[in-house]
Amino acid sequence: MDRMERMERMERMVGKVALVTGGAMGLGKGIAARLAEEGATVVITDVNEEVGGATAAELEVQFLPQDVSREEEWERVVAEVERRHGALHVLVNNAGIEGHPEAPKDPENAPLEDWNRILAVNATGVFLGCRQAIPLMARSGGGSIVNLSSVASLVPTPFITAYGASKAAVDHLSRSVALHCARSGHRIRCNTVHPGQVRTPMLEVLFERLAAQQGVTSEAFAEGFRQGIPLGYFQEPRDIADAVLFLASDESRYITGESIAVDGGFTLAN
Ligand SMILES: NC(=O)c1ccc[n+]([C@@H]2O[C@H](COP(=O)([O-])OP(=O)(O)OC[C@H]3O[C@@H](n4cnc5c(N)ncnc54)[C@H](O)[C@@H]3O)[C@@H](O)[C@H]2O)c1
Repeated sequence: MDRMERMERMERMVGKVALVTGGAMGLGKGIAARLAEEGATVVITDVNEEVGGATAAELEVQFLPQDVSREEEWERVVAEVERRHGALHVLVNNAGIEGHPEAPKDPENAPLEDWNRILAVNATGVFLGCRQAIPLMARSGGGSIVNLSSVASLVPTPFITAYGASKAAVDHLSRSVALHCARSGHRIRCNTVHPGQVRTPMLEVLFERLAAQQGVTSEAFAEGFRQGIPLGYFQEPRDIADAVLFLASDESRYITGESIAVDGGFTLAN
């Protein structure tokens, strides 16, 4: 790659304002870093204010506290982005939870409270984000919404029932948003990215719980999981961030209502 090519690659998001929810750690942090690297003005939000603030300082992006399940917090965040930057071009609905670590997750025993919270953050949070951001994105000349789904929406997941259902809701919602925005002439696209297994804090908690149920160590469980990934290795946050970057950028300007699984072939084999 020559210097010109390299410089062009660093400018794929110049002039764009991007909002990434759940950006304090894990995939959201990786996505925010990647978008900023390509020149976007990035605002991250998170319920974890301490880590969110520290991450924003580290990445040299902005931080706003937010619980994505609360509509008034969406109103405040979108208004603040408009006040600061006058526009919004990219919304990455990344914040997500797996539920209470102690609560059973199978459909026979999962408590309603845990189900409701998972749906509130993972599905309602994405709906609220789309609803609140679309008018500003439309006024900004259009843009791209990227919703973090999961391979859990593509295969049955009785060990994380509500989580899988919440991500299936995200898939369907995203296609409705895509069609609505296309027909409204908003020039807003909407697509989903489906990570497989990235060893973020969320996945480590899940592995610990499933390992304890099987009476093995977390590392032994992770190794068994790794062997079930056709490509044979765990993905990194960067792998997800690159897919999000593509969908956020104008390189995907004609792609809407689509899903990209970034899973090393996991859904092919399961
Ligand atoms: N890690 C994986 O292997 C994997 C696989 C498939 C899908 N995903 C999805 O990718 C996204 C990111 O996952 P991750 O692994 O980075 O998780 P993570 O738990 O490591 O990070 C999630 C971030 O979201 C924040 N958050 C939680 N609830 C919030 C709320 N109500 N409002 C605002 N912020 C909130 C957390 O504080 C945290 O900073 C999630 O939507 C997750 O479902 C992850």
